[in-house]
Amino acid sequence: MNKTSFRTVSGMRPTGPLHLGHYFGVLKNWVALQEKGDSFFFVADWHALTSDFADPSQIAANSLEMVKDWLAAGLDPEKSVLFKQSSNLYHAELSLLLSMITPVSWLERNPTYKEQQQQIGDKDLGNAGFLCYPVLMAADILMYLPSGVPVGQDQLPHLELTREIARRFNFLYGTLFPEPDALLTPAAKCPGLDGRKMSKSYHNGIFLRDTMDDITTKVRGMFTDQARLRKSDPGNPDVCNLFPYHILLASEQEQQEIREGCTKATLGCVDCKKIFLKNLNDFLAPLQERRAVLDANPQRVRDILEAGNERARQEAAKTMCLVREKMGM
Ligand code: TRP
Repeated sequence: MNKTSFRTVSGMRPTGPLHLGHYFGVLKNWVALQEKGDSFFFVADWHALTSDFADPSQIAANSLEMVKDWLAAGLDPEKSVLFKQSSNLYHAELSLLLSMITPVSWLERNPTYKEQQQQIGDKDLGNAGFLCYPVLMAADILMYLPSGVPVGQDQLPHLELTREIARRFNFLYGTLFPEPDALLTPAAKCPGLDGRKMSKSYHNGIFLRDTMDDITTKVRGMFTDQARLRKSDPGNPDVCNLFPYHILLASEQEQQEIREGCTKATLGCVDCKKIFLKNLNDFLAPLQERRAVLDANPQRVRDILEAGNERARQEAAKTMCLVREKMGM
């Protein structure tokens, strides 16, 4: 591991296969950050349990699959510590201790909490674990005394709470924790196939493990500029559901050509989709090759996690000594 002072930590809930939104929103950033300093990336399986407690049957399998997606996308266990939250009981201890100093009102006014309670109608989210979600998240983060936390935009309120909890701890017991910044992926906009946010529950995703046949079918059904009825009509890339993907995958020059072809009506939507499918295939093929190797050897993935769990526990043990000392326990 590089011994620079820059350290990052982040987690993902194992809720199902990863899609392009996960990759361009977060994972790509993780892969880049592992070159810059110490990095800790973990499977937030306890966080999955806060909303899926009634049926936890998929969490373990999803966890393993998600780590395969991470490795396929380029996370390297030689460069970053990959581990599972539930294998590191220190996270539970720190979460408990931080819950002592966290006012319930901070948790109740968390916008993500209110929003999810309203939006996820089919699940009971009145449990204490769900309310305390941000406390556990603060523990996950502060445990590693990081400088930055690479997350998607949706996690910013949680991260703000982490900083508030750190500040309160430092005020009460003496300075220990940093107030880590969010590290957002620069200008990553990866909407779903229908233009809404890409999400498994909206059925508008392209998954990292989709076959090109599946993807071709999905892309064929995509709306482009809905005002462009014939190829001879000039189109507007800025209202097209496809164009954001060109920004993610095409070279600058190709983007220019596509924009021109669309606005001057020389490039039709069918051909435009073909360009996208080719670029996507070039992007996904090496990823899926790496994944196939892991699918054939799931024990390798378990070994990687086991080694990462051990390293994370060692690091966490050090922080917890300091925390207990500060709190006089
Ligand atoms: N809440 C994050 C999500 O839903 C997952 C998560 C849990 C996390 N603990 C974390 C992210 C700590 C960053 C740091 O994606």
